[in-house]
Amino acid sequence: MEILNVLIGCEESQEVCKAFRELGHNAYSCDLEDCSGGHPEWHLKMDIFDAIDLKGYDWNLAILHPPCTAIAVSGNATYAIGKLKYNERLKAIDWTQNLWDYTKRFCPYVALENPVGCLNTLGSFPKPQYIQPWQFGHGETKKTGLWLHNLPNLKPTKVVEGREQKVWKMPPSADRQKLRSKTYTGIAAAMAEQWSEFIINAFEKSNVRREKINYGQVAPASIK
Ligand SMILES: C[S@@+](CC[C@H](N)C(=O)[O-])C[C@H]1O[C@@H](n2cnc3c(N)ncnc32)[C@H](O)[C@@H]1O
Repeated sequence: MEILNVLIGCEESQEVCKAFRELGHNAYSCDLEDCSGGHPEWHLKMDIFDAIDLKGYDWNLAILHPPCTAIAVSGNATYAIGKLKYNERLKAIDWTQNLWDYTKRFCPYVALENPVGCLNTLGSFPKPQYIQPWQFGHGETKKTGLWLHNLPNLKPTKVVEGREQKVWKMPPSADRQKLRSKTYTGIAAAMAEQWSEFIINAFEKSNVRREKINYGQVAPASIK
């Protein structure tokens, strides 16, 4: 089986990283923070731009989960035009736009995940696909956009009853923000299964010999 090198940017939970690892791929999460997913050996604790540039890695696919606080419509009361922190919204759009454009230069397949927000009105992004957790086995609502470069829309894997808005009802806690932004396991599994299959098929169809891919990477710590 072809083994893909996959970078999951801005992910501390390692949910998507673990889904790709379960399928045998060479996946790494990357975040400024320590990971909470239990696999520090698969975690690049560094700036996402540095991870994209890492020598010895040749990323086939990057899935990005950039910060959404200033971009999401849920923050409009604070970040919309005329509000106190509008400047921060513009900065966040600029950073996310740079991340999207930069990643596409170095990686052939890219997905960027964010809640409903102003990426398309203030930035220059393709039209997103919107998905819901209830399409992937979780009886909850959380409308999420996927901006895709060379990747197909994600197909629902298990449509279930239940439309609870669980993330908003979470009680206050130190981890509330982290828990709210953690990727659902059903969505992570769908990304890993559908997108790895799509890329491997594309390699086979184009008859590309992927000599540049590195198998059995050295541990991140020894690369730095
Ligand atoms: C909205 S959360 C995404 C969480 C993700 N869905 C998960 O399951 O872990 C955004 C994440 O981006 C990380 N982050 C912010 N700036 C970053 C940077 N320059 N490089 C890497 N990660 C960054 C934050 O620490 C945070 O964990």
